Amino acid sequence: MPVEQRLRLVTAVPGPRSCELAARKAATIANGVGNVLPAYIVEAGGGILIDVDGNQLIDFGSGIAVTTVGNSAPAVVARVREAVERFTHTCFMVTPYEGYLEVAERLAELTPGDHPKKSALFNSGAEAVENAIKIARVATGRPAVVCFDHAYHGRTNLTMALTAKDMPYKHGFGPFASEIYRAPMAYPYRWPGDPTRVAEEAFAQFESQVHVQVGENQVAAVIIEPIQGEGGFIVPPVGFLPRIAQWCRDHGTVFIADEIQTGFCRTGDWFACDHEDVVPDLITTAKGIAGGLPLAAVTGRAELMDAVHIGGLGGTYGGNPIACAAAVGAIEEMQSGDLCGRARQIEAIVRARLQAMATRYEAIGDVRGRGAMLAVELVAPGGRQPDAALTGAVARACHARGVVVLTAGSYGNVLRFLPPLSISDELLREGFDVVEEAFADVLAG
Ligand SMILES: Cc1ncc(COP(=O)(O)O)c(C=O)c1O
Repeated sequence: MPVEQRLRLVTAVPGPRSCELAARKAATIANGVGNVLPAYIVEAGGGILIDVDGNQLIDFGSGIAVTTVGNSAPAVVARVREAVERFTHTCFMVTPYEGYLEVAERLAELTPGDHPKKSALFNSGAEAVENAIKIARVATGRPAVVCFDHAYHGRTNLTMALTAKDMPYKHGFGPFASEIYRAPMAYPYRWPGDPTRVAEEAFAQFESQVHVQVGENQVAAVIIEPIQGEGGFIVPPVGFLPRIAQWCRDHGTVFIADEIQTGFCRTGDWFACDHEDVVPDLITTAKGIAGGLPLAAVTGRAELMDAVHIGGLGGTYGGNPIACAAAVGAIEEMQSGDLCGRARQIEAIVRARLQAMATRYEAIGDVRGRGAMLAVELVAPGGRQPDAALTGAVARACHARGVVVLTAGSYGNVLRFLPPLSISDELLREGFDVVEEAFADVLAG
């Protein structure tokens, strides 16, 4: 039965049943596994999450940019149901199946560039990033990888090394993988140099640091999120990504675009690289690819992908048949429903709301992002000092009023909005009415 598309609170959020479950969580689940909002969900669809107490919450998080096509999207459910009744697992490395090939064929068509491409499928974003680095190292015979300030690439050992932020992602978990080097990110709002030359200056620093500290011919790969996700929806200025891609071409280095958060219509294009016609050598995808089922991929130039010896890539569950069926359904839904266009419509509504709020609240220092991936950076009045306490207070006030929002940013001062693209305009507007109320209350109080 379709989920009613209406915000409705019948208890406090979280309610009593959720609190009982939270007590069970405290007794059985490791402390390190946190919850943003401990309202336990029993059903979801469109733009609504229904919790165990019967509250209907507006979803501005999409399970961290995963349910782009919506929760239990009909095209995904139909494909999954049909697949799960036939078989659940064989391991593609043992006895293969067609669904894996279908996903790889879609990826070859949809990802940037018209060169011959191949893919390998995995379970999580971090696993895809690890494998992209493995491929780049074998293909080039070089050890070093360059990543950026404010980057997030995952929580495994190699991806923690690539991720920038200490707490909570890296703190105490070292030592980390070696041969990882970090360059400044073109972060317009916080660029210390000339605000009109951020792309040029950031690229010049990248070029000089790599030359001095690493050596161009040692660099296997440069990895970058075309719009940084966990780092705070940082959009590099036009020209930065093409310069990095060109530098990689000039030096025989593999350019890896980590589109795990930005991919699959989220930013109003199939991939964020499309915005400036940047063609990565390898692209990592996950999250939105399969409507909520765990699936990830590395897709790239056939000659790079084929550099690895047989048996060098894989994993027991990578490209699980149910997840592949879900991905085929999700991609069909994105194509038939023009979800790239829908992301741009959502951007028009949300950006206007956030910009209007920024004129009223001095605490909103910056409004940024693209498509249905927008954020505000909150600062102390009169300057740009990050205000993480205010950000947390506004997020909690949204949660208490039934709107699920997420925070982000190296300084914890970014409120980010990632609604499912299946949300209605009406619900989107209602959700932002609540966000505005939350701002007004917190700032008044
Ligand atoms: C850009 C980016 N890369 C990698 C990852 C890691 O993905 P996963 O959590 O599926 O391992 C994430 C997750 O947020 C991400 O946003």
